[in-house]
Amino acid sequence: MGRGKLNAPEAGYCTAIKDIATVARSGLPFKRILNSIARRTTKAMQVAGCAVMLLDQRREFLIPTGSYGLSDLYLRKGSIRAHRSIPAILNGRTIIISDASRDPRIEYPQAARDEGIVSVLGVPIFSKDGVTGELRIYTHEKRRFSPSDRDFANSVAAIIALVLEKEVTIQSKVQAQPIAVQQAPSQSPQHVISKIRTPDFSHPSEAEFARLLDFYRIDWLYEPRTFPIKRDGGRITEMFTPDFYLPEMDTYIELTTMKQHLITEKNRKIRLLRQLYPDIKIRLLNRSDYAKLLAKYGYGPLASAKVQGISRVLFNHAQIQRRVGVLAKRISKDYAGSEIVLVGVLKGVLCFMADLMQKISLPVTVEFMGISYFADAAGESVTITKGLDTSIKGKNVLMVEDIVDTGMTLKYLLEHLTSHEPASLKVCTLLDKRIRRIIDVKLDYIGFEVADEFVVGYGLDYRGHYRNLPFIGTLGPTPVTENT
Ligand code: IMP
Repeated sequence: MGRGKLNAPEAGYCTAIKDIATVARSGLPFKRILNSIARRTTKAMQVAGCAVMLLDQRREFLIPTGSYGLSDLYLRKGSIRAHRSIPAILNGRTIIISDASRDPRIEYPQAARDEGIVSVLGVPIFSKDGVTGELRIYTHEKRRFSPSDRDFANSVAAIIALVLEKEVTIQSKVQAQPIAVQQAPSQSPQHVISKIRTPDFSHPSEAEFARLLDFYRIDWLYEPRTFPIKRDGGRITEMFTPDFYLPEMDTYIELTTMKQHLITEKNRKIRLLRQLYPDIKIRLLNRSDYAKLLAKYGYGPLASAKVQGISRVLFNHAQIQRRVGVLAKRISKDYAGSEIVLVGVLKGVLCFMADLMQKISLPVTVEFMGISYFADAAGESVTITKGLDTSIKGKNVLMVEDIVDTGMTLKYLLEHLTSHEPASLKVCTLLDKRIRRIIDVKLDYIGFEVADEFVVGYGLDYRGHYRNLPFIGTLGPTPVTENT
């Protein structure tokens, strides 16, 4: 042994394995089992800490699911991209990093330094379908992990794989019970795995928001990063952990659905965060933003609100017609000499599409799609209720939208249309509610920008009403139900 210590850890490995196997069979909740295994592994190996990281449903990110001995700040150091973070483990190999402060394989070297991490041992966790996660062992002093250390870590990883397999079986059975329609069975192992890997949300609104993101197939990570926002000398005195991170948009989302006095405090933290980390993109969704967002999909306190009257006309008929004429002229010029396919999503786009197509001076064909704003019973997918009637392969497609709000619908639709291989794909929207954007999408033609107000008329509805108004207006004061 090169460490100068006696073979102390090795001597205890057999007993530790026996203990760990007992924990694995204990019937405790899944994540508690993982934490307990991490604790026993840390103690047995005489190391600083250990983390069980499982691959997410798409095998893109590693999610710390159980741990011991590591600070919250280290566990929430940021998103861990599986293919960047020590990819050798994902190929089924055991890896040893003896000096984490210098090794290029360490994705967050500063975080490792702050945590005092020196050496790392990583072993794969195998399931029937291949590598499903990693077990990582961390030390505070330089350590050359012995063959026994490696064997021990691999044995622990094998026990974790069994725990995971058992949990999948349990969850499949639970989900197969015909208890409630909302939880109707969805038997694919993917669903079960994603349920197991669902974080413990600290507020029901977070779970709802996660469902909404899943619905649009937008990747998200829950609280992957903690930002120190105040220090006293070298000591961190205040931290802030945004609720969600959307990797594709490189944007953090903070939901502030709670009491007003807490929001003031949260705003202060976000101001500090923005000052200290100017490159970080963070979007705050306050209570009313959030309620409106959910109401749009039939959830939340506003979903059952009564229809209100119109409070203000934003754009009258003549203004709309003039603006549509300008857009049509621009489109006709940009696409001169070619034919376009206008694709609209029912029903909101119907007035705009009808006027726009008449004003375009080029040959056009028109396609309509239908999309359901309700997820399936498992709550995970967008439903296209009506697809394209003819192929758009090799054609110039112009997606025509009534309004782009968060950008989630449009992102989903653009991905769908791209998969049909058009020659070109652009977007024309009548209204752009830019202030509420969560997903950045490129808009090529924009009619009007609107503020953060719910608008109706000229095809746009509120719970099915107002589509027939010849103007665009805002609704009366935010509708409220008795519960709010
Ligand atoms: P997004 O996915 O959040 O961008 O939402 C886009 C869809 O939400 C639109 O196609 C509309 O159907 C609906 N929507 C968003 N804001 C409004 C509004 O103010 N009035 C009516 N419908 C809206």
